[in-house]
Amino acid sequence: MNNTLLDEIREVLQKMGFKVYKTNNDNSIIISNKQLYEYLSQFGKAWKKYVPNEIKQLSSKLLKVLFNYYIKGDGNNRLTPYGGYRTTWWTTSPRLRDDLQEICIKMGKSANFQLVKKKNETIKKIRGRVIKQEHPIWVSNLIIKSNTPSVYLHRNRRDNPNTKNREEWIDSHRGMVYCVEVPNHIVYVRRNGKAVWSGNSGTTGDVAKKLGRKCVMTDIKPVRKDIIRGDACFCYPPHNVQLVILHPPYWDIIKYSKDRNDLCNAETLEDYLRMFRKVIDNVTPFLDDGRFLALVIGDKYSKGEWIPLGFLTMNEVIKAGYILKSIIVKNMIGNERGKGIANNLWRYRALKDGFCVFKHEYVIVFQKKNVG
Ligand SMILES: C[S@@+](CC[C@H](N)C(=O)[O-])C[C@H]1O[C@@H](n2cnc3c(N)ncnc32)[C@H](O)[C@@H]1O
Repeated sequence: MNNTLLDEIREVLQKMGFKVYKTNNDNSIIISNKQLYEYLSQFGKAWKKYVPNEIKQLSSKLLKVLFNYYIKGDGNNRLTPYGGYRTTWWTTSPRLRDDLQEICIKMGKSANFQLVKKKNETIKKIRGRVIKQEHPIWVSNLIIKSNTPSVYLHRNRRDNPNTKNREEWIDSHRGMVYCVEVPNHIVYVRRNGKAVWSGNSGTTGDVAKKLGRKCVMTDIKPVRKDIIRGDACFCYPPHNVQLVILHPPYWDIIKYSKDRNDLCNAETLEDYLRMFRKVIDNVTPFLDDGRFLALVIGDKYSKGEWIPLGFLTMNEVIKAGYILKSIIVKNMIGNERGKGIANNLWRYRALKDGFCVFKHEYVIVFQKKNVG
């Protein structure tokens, strides 16, 4: 341990009221305190270490202090070639690795980890003797950017020639599939050490429930128990309803499923609009006359062309015999990644020309004509 750090630790310990002794070799310190010994011994050897719950419950401010000191001991802050800092740490304890990942979230950041040395991996040979790694070592990195939950559209864009269309499925799984549900429908998912925020769906239904309204939710690929599996082109509610809320895929921007009846799998724009119209015609007989239909929809921008899905779908609803009541333009704050690098260009154009140009989607409200 370097001397500056040792001095800093010594000073902190002295402030806490401990008597600190220097060792002869000058690169360690000794504290004779039975209470401290007993408290620390519960955390075991290096590969069993952890952060107790009462510490993980501390405020974000105090957790930052803890984390910074942890990094001084078992990690480092390195300058990157891009002029930023990379914070990295190592541990042989899977529990400590996970605890630190949790602390990072509580600090408003996040972290991923990677196995860098496997158990029993040969590290070196000393005079013919093979030295093996006794415990696996994980390296973790602090992530300071991109910690806002958002959909990474570019991963799924079929029309983006520069990216692979990545889809993940659990085809080989034969057992039960569980669906977690948390009050705000945002869960933190970790896979192979990489953690991401992930959204549950069903938010429209939650609002209805909060308002004390009865509601039926359907989706072709539901991810919650309270959403009924059904193709909106054919399934219908058990009795008439007084409000229909439609939030269809914005054509193929996001791949929700492989189901060919999923609107996101429509081959062409014409197919998409035809399927959408089928949904409208299917639901209309079950909406009371004079009552409302709300459509939540966004446009698509692809290969240099703006595709006004909002206006096109609006037109389909009008053609189906509805009266247009309102076009609500919704600001999409917090979804900057949806616009990617174009985000600043938009802001620049808006400021330069005095326009109100912003990332948006629509909530379009219609009334079913009173035929009675
Ligand atoms: C924009 S998302 C709506 C998310 C919704 N607001 C929520 O909170 O769950 C579009 C949804 O439409 C569903 N979908 C696509 N085609 C469908 C169809 N033919 N019938 C029913 N649902 C469909 C997709 O599975 C996807 O969940």
